[in-house]
Amino acid sequence: MKKGVRNIGRLNGKVALITGATSGLGRAVAERFVEEGAQVCVVDVSLGRLEEMKERFGDTILTVHSDVSTLEGNIKMVESTVKTFGKIDIFVANAGIYDGNVGINDLPLNRIEAAFDEVINVNVKGYLLGAKVVLPELLKSEGCMIFTASHASFYSAGGGPIYTASKHAIAGLIKELAYELAPKIRVNGVAPGVIATAMGMPKALGTQIPSIISGVEQSLPLPFIPESRDYVELYVLLASEAAKAMTGTIIQADNGISIRGLVQTSGGI
Ligand SMILES: NC(=O)c1ccc[n+]([C@@H]2O[C@H](COP(=O)([O-])OP(=O)(O)OC[C@H]3O[C@@H](n4cnc5c(N)ncnc54)[C@H](O)[C@@H]3O)[C@@H](O)[C@H]2O)c1
Repeated sequence: MKKGVRNIGRLNGKVALITGATSGLGRAVAERFVEEGAQVCVVDVSLGRLEEMKERFGDTILTVHSDVSTLEGNIKMVESTVKTFGKIDIFVANAGIYDGNVGINDLPLNRIEAAFDEVINVNVKGYLLGAKVVLPELLKSEGCMIFTASHASFYSAGGGPIYTASKHAIAGLIKELAYELAPKIRVNGVAPGVIATAMGMPKALGTQIPSIISGVEQSLPLPFIPESRDYVELYVLLASEAAKAMTGTIIQADNGISIRGLVQTSGGI
């Protein structure tokens, strides 16, 4: 471990593979897992950010340039991790892109298929392929999977129909895999509400826009926009022995979006 990196130790001896781990939530989880003593494979499509993380964390991490929407990308990340660290205990499927909150009425007819394919290929196919390819390793280690879901896995208005459908699919995937893989592998999820990040957009829908709407915090029962680091403890919990009785669970950390109610100003103290 490089000088200046803390070692807290709750994941000592564990090997984690995290997708979409050079920015935002995935990066915050990767950094915390390193602090907790894990060896971490950081997977992303951004070469520049992969290089920057390698420079900072040295041999504690392995960086792999892979596109999770492809089977070969998933095979590459799993094979590289096992070759370098010898096993995988924790698989965090997290890489995701947004649909820019574009509603059905505004989705251009000539780009709707391409936009759907791009978002679903990363957000859903990426998680499924990752789970499939990592499965033999997790069966050996009796490890766990943690999927980044969203409040859009349960409710409307967390994106447009493409993103919301993709994140609802993740709730189903978590439940089905938890059912199929018990008792050897636990499969759980974290469903953040809003995060101060700028998620990527499908090429078919053009320019990048912030994934959170300005001023949205005013309508939240807990009225602030969390940083990525505000969610990482939930991933440590699900990866650790403390969660040994949990599978098929999705932790909703959504500033209270789900209990907002009809009248937004009520309930405050
Ligand atoms: N930002 C929010 O408000 C919010 C809310 C709830 C859930 N989420 C979820 O959090 C997760 C992380 O998003 P974020 O907000 O940190 O965004 P982010 O853009 O900062 O991070 C996503 C990462 O995934 C990588 N990525 C994108 N496509 C990829 C691919 N095909 N293969 C490999 N890597 C790829 C990106 O390069 C980026 O590093 C996503 O699953 C997202 O749906 C985000």
